[in-house]
Amino acid sequence: MKENKETAKRTQFLLFWGQWFVLMLLPCFGTSACDKVNSDSLLSLALQAPLNLNWSSSTDCCLWEGITCGPGDQGHVVRLWLPRRGLTGVINPSITNLTHLTHLNLSHNSFLGSLPEDLFSSLSSLQVIDLSFNRLIGRLPPSNKISQLQVLNLSSNFFNGTIPSSILVPSVSIFNVSNNSFSGSIPIDNGSNHTSLTFLDLSYNKLNDTIPPGIGLCSKLQVFRAGFNSLSGSLPDEIFNLADLRQLSLPVNSLTGPINDGIMNLTNLQILEIFSNQFSGPIPSQIGSLSRLENLLLHVNNLTGPLPLSLANSTKLSALNLRVNNLTGDLSSFNFSPLQRLTTLDLGNNYFTGEFPKSLYSCKSLTAIRLTENQLTGQISPEIVALESLAFLSISTNNMTNATGALRILKGCKNLTSLILSNNFPFEPVPDDKSLGDLDGFQSLRVFSLGGCQFTGQVPTWLAKLKNLQVLDLSFNLITGSVPGWLASLPNLFYIDLSNNLLQGGFPNDLCGMPVLTSKEASDNVDRSYLELPVFVKPNNATDQQYNQLSNLPPAIYLSNNSLNGSIPIEIGRLKFIHVLDLSHNKFSGSIPDQISNLTNLEKLDLSYNNLSGEIPVSLKGLHFLSSFSVAYNDLQGLVPSGGQFDTFTISSFEGNPGLCGPLTPKRSCHQSPQSPPQVLEVTRRSKTQTILIALVFGIFFGIGFGIGFSMDDKKIPIIGWRRK
Ligand SMILES: *[C@@H]1O[C@H](CO)[C@@H](O)[C@H](O)[C@H]1NC(C)=O
Ligand SMILES: *[C@@H]1O[C@H](CO)[C@@H](O)[C@H](O)[C@H]1NC(C)=O
Ligand SMILES: *[C@@H]1O[C@H](CO)[C@@H](O)[C@H](O)[C@H]1NC(C)=O
Ligand SMILES: *[C@@H]1O[C@H](CO)[C@@H](O)[C@H](O)[C@H]1NC(C)=O
Ligand SMILES: *[C@@H]1O[C@H](CO)[C@@H](O)[C@H](O)[C@H]1NC(C)=O
Ligand SMILES: *[C@@H]1O[C@H](CO)[C@@H](O)[C@H](O)[C@H]1NC(C)=O
Ligand SMILES: *[C@@H]1O[C@H](CO)[C@@H](O)[C@H](O)[C@H]1NC(C)=O
Ligand SMILES: *[C@@H]1O[C@H](CO)[C@@H](O)[C@H](O)[C@H]1NC(C)=O
Ligand SMILES: *[C@@H]1O[C@H](CO)[C@@H](O)[C@H](O)[C@H]1NC(C)=O
Ligand SMILES: *[C@@H]1O[C@H](CO)[C@@H](O)[C@H](O)[C@H]1NC(C)=O
Ligand SMILES: *[C@@H]1O[C@H](CO)[C@@H](O)[C@H](O)[C@H]1NC(C)=O
Ligand SMILES: *[C@@H]1O[C@H](CO)[C@@H](O)[C@H](O)[C@H]1NC(C)=O
Repeated sequence: MKENKETAKRTQFLLFWGQWFVLMLLPCFGTSACDKVNSDSLLSLALQAPLNLNWSSSTDCCLWEGITCGPGDQGHVVRLWLPRRGLTGVINPSITNLTHLTHLNLSHNSFLGSLPEDLFSSLSSLQVIDLSFNRLIGRLPPSNKISQLQVLNLSSNFFNGTIPSSILVPSVSIFNVSNNSFSGSIPIDNGSNHTSLTFLDLSYNKLNDTIPPGIGLCSKLQVFRAGFNSLSGSLPDEIFNLADLRQLSLPVNSLTGPINDGIMNLTNLQILEIFSNQFSGPIPSQIGSLSRLENLLLHVNNLTGPLPLSLANSTKLSALNLRVNNLTGDLSSFNFSPLQRLTTLDLGNNYFTGEFPKSLYSCKSLTAIRLTENQLTGQISPEIVALESLAFLSISTNNMTNATGALRILKGCKNLTSLILSNNFPFEPVPDDKSLGDLDGFQSLRVFSLGGCQFTGQVPTWLAKLKNLQVLDLSFNLITGSVPGWLASLPNLFYIDLSNNLLQGGFPNDLCGMPVLTSKEASDNVDRSYLELPVFVKPNNATDQQYNQLSNLPPAIYLSNNSLNGSIPIEIGRLKFIHVLDLSHNKFSGSIPDQISNLTNLEKLDLSYNNLSGEIPVSLKGLHFLSSFSVAYNDLQGLVPSGGQFDTFTISSFEGNPGLCGPLTPKRSCHQSPQSPPQVLEVTRRSKTQTILIALVFGIFFGIGFGIGFSMDDKKIPIIGWRRK
């Protein structure tokens, strides 16, 4: 009896500690030891990868990093979870021996090559597949066996071919194949069951079909993204059945037709971005009934009609972009004031009329307003200073008046970094009110553009107080006097455009000391942070370029089309960090200074239409980045240098210089006798109007809704100038 008690006690003890022992071992061994096939398969897989993993054939593979084995004593690997491990090489076919795998995550590595042909057919238990952010190529293997798939993420690889619709099995809820090279159709068949699908991202591929009506069967869909493809056709009505849809993102495709009233059925919609398509017709008049709308991005389409008054009811609206459409109507009749969350508003490049809408002044969240290229009239009102967060204001190419008044008011907007007022205020005097340069006026301003206003007077001296100014555009005015040397006192200035004015005098020596263009230290110290909004720049005839940060804007001095004279100072060689120097269409004389060859970052040098004489310095051959060069229509002599970038220039760079000789000139040989008959020269000068405007054009660009920053091609281009779009 006693013994029995003892035994019972001992048994209890053993049971107790035994339980603990087993429990403690559990996390180590799992419920099972890894079987040989699994272990070998994993080791073959690992052979490809740099072995910064703790995998070794001497330990149980269920203990390895990233491996989880399933229950039971079979030792089957069920999870292979190795994101961001720097793994590379092809995915070894031996992976297909892990037949019990349910979770596969090899994302954010550098796997190459194509997927094993029987990957999906062998691993038919897979529920989660994440192979995103690798370098995988080729077509997807057959996929009709993975009937339990819930999550598929193959984004950011180089897969191509079509997306087999068999891969979208009924259980799939998250499907992301964005940023590959898939072509063909959206993999939704009319007959299939997609009722589990909540997230579908097909953006950044080469899909080139229409949107299938079957999309309407994805009744749980919350996010549908298929932007940056080549989709065509119209929005199928079935899409308006998707009552749960929060995000509809189809930008940068070739979609056409109207935006139907059916859109009002999508009452959960928060993001509607269908910019850069060819949608036409009016914006649905009741669009404001979408009360959850936050981002409405319809820019660069062919929309007509007015801004629907109902939109004032979408009080959650934060970003509204309708730029580059054909919208009309009196903007001042729209009541913006309920839109208290509005941060960015772009209505540029439309046909809106009326005064600058006063109701905007009560939208306290606004950081950026762009109303460029409309037909707005009137003046800026003092109430605008209530917009304390306002950083970006562009109202260029309208019919506003009272520039001096506008600036006196706007200097009260302390957070203003970009002010673009070009092409307004016809024939007013240049705002030259000394008080504008108050210590507290415009002290955040980085970009200031007042081009194309036919301003008279001199370059205003108050600009010298704008210590943060980086970009100054006063082109296409009637400004007289000289180029002010004090511009070099602005510590951050790196882009000056004074072209197309009536300036006289010489190239000021002081300008050759502009800090950002001469010193690496000053250049490095320029505030390189992003602007609130990107910048469109149109220098000359070049294609429009968009700059998301000012540091990507090439440092430049444009002084073309003035009446500047004297010689080009040799000190110009100090402007080492300049990329563009345009002195064309002036009266500069003397020789081209050899020191220009010190400007080793120069991409464009235009000295055409001056009175320059002497030879072209051979040292200019050393300018390795020079891609645009002209000395046409001067009085230069001697041999045109050859070699370096000079081998890429054409005859037009040198024409109109009777004294030049060499292969790119009419006088091919330099050894002709001086008495030889004069060459018949091309004397037709290009008309002045052909030297196209240099202007800054600023616009709004939204990257909302896409994790990856993208760069967008406007199909219609906003241009500041005399032309409309
Ligand atoms: C799968 O395992 C078997 C048995 O170990 C082996 O013979 C075969 O080569 C493996 N398959 C692959 C593709 O590695
Ligand atoms: C798909 O990619 C593979 C590998 O890069 C390439 O050989 C093949 O030509 C591509 N196919 C198509 C249709 O682009
Ligand atoms: C569709 O699939 C879901 C989930 O797989 C299932 O519950 C449902 O019954 C299916 N519906 C039809 C009509 O097949
Ligand atoms: C889509 O592109 C593929 C490959 O370029 C082409 O064969 C096919 O005809 C295109 N489909 C449509 C609908 O344009
Ligand atoms: C929108 O919803 C209404 C009512 O639910 C329905 O009658 C109508 O057919 C729907 N319209 C579209 C285009 O789906
Ligand atoms: C825009 O709409 C007009 C008039 O409806 C049409 O003539 C034009 O072709 C459309 N443009 C584009 C690019 O779709
Ligand atoms: C805004 O919504 C209210 C309530 O639904 C409605 O009465 C009003 O007409 C709407 N306003 C506009 C401008 O559509
Ligand atoms: C845009 O609107 C203007 C004026 O309302 C009209 O003359 C023009 O034809 C329209 N263009 C397009 C493409 O619809
Ligand atoms: C601007 O106003 C002038 C004079 O009031 C007028 O001639 C011109 O057509 C207007 N321009 C625009 C684009 O509205
Ligand atoms: C003004 O700009 C500064 C710096 O960007 C920022 O910290 C501040 O919040 C802004 N002020 C307002 C009222 O938005
Ligand atoms: C110009 O604007 C200022 C500031 O708002 C105002 O005081 C002045 O009266 C305006 N001038 C004209 C001619 O409207
Ligand atoms: C500018 O572009 C237009 C249209 O492309 C062309 O006709 C013109 O010759 C170009 N002008 C210059 C100065 O290159």
